[in-house]
Amino acid sequence: MRIDVHFNGSSTGQHDVHDRVVLVVDVLRASTSIAAALNNGARAVIPFEGVDDAIMRARSLERSEVLLAGERKMAPIQGFQLGNSPREFTADIVSGKTIVMTTTNGTAALASTSGAAEVLVGCFANYSATLAWLRAAARGGKSITIICAGTNGRFALEDAICAGRFVRGIARRGIQPELGDAASVAAIIDRRMGGDLLAVLRDSEHGRALIEAGLGDDVTYCAGLNTHSVVPVYRDRQVVRLGDR
Ligand code: MLT
Repeated sequence: MRIDVHFNGSSTGQHDVHDRVVLVVDVLRASTSIAAALNNGARAVIPFEGVDDAIMRARSLERSEVLLAGERKMAPIQGFQLGNSPREFTADIVSGKTIVMTTTNGTAALASTSGAAEVLVGCFANYSATLAWLRAAARGGKSITIICAGTNGRFALEDAICAGRFVRGIARRGIQPELGDAASVAAIIDRRMGGDLLAVLRDSEHGRALIEAGLGDDVTYCAGLNTHSVVPVYRDRQVVRLGDR
């Protein structure tokens, strides 16, 4: 089996994901918010690239059961109940709800996965639970593509470190994958820079922007390792907990 990493989600094509297990990573903040929502009892997260599409979908669902969530330029969207802060997705707010979500990069990265055998959503918060599932897929011979959502079409350090951590976690104890060059580089980046996750996230380009916007507590939340045990899986255009359906 083989592991490939794509540092820029928007450049991923269908041939990159065809019949593979795909992991979408957007540490700051979409992956972490999705993991938090499902971990805290949300029924599903339905991702959309566009705000209008998200609003239309939400209108088609029972009003009392749906919450609109997302951001543009990190700020909550007018008329939406939630932004994209993982701290907002608490059990008392999201339990039993369907979250219709649109974010700048994370939901677009999910949209680029059609044709994949399975699509998971990963971050530091659900690292070990997701890794266990990926290792099982690797043992079964499935090749893996890790898509870093990045930031506005550019490389994002926090996603690269997280991708590298997954590469390193898969490629040990009896599993010897062939690594694409970007997967090797991601592993090196994590080994060299991933020692203090909070420090490196706070110092990353997007981390600094979030802190500047008064969202430093989100960066702290997203740097937490294994705070959730949920494995979100994207099937039939919605993200649910693996094992739920
Ligand atoms: C995104 O999807 O672009 C991010 O999650 C941006 C953010 O809200 O921090």
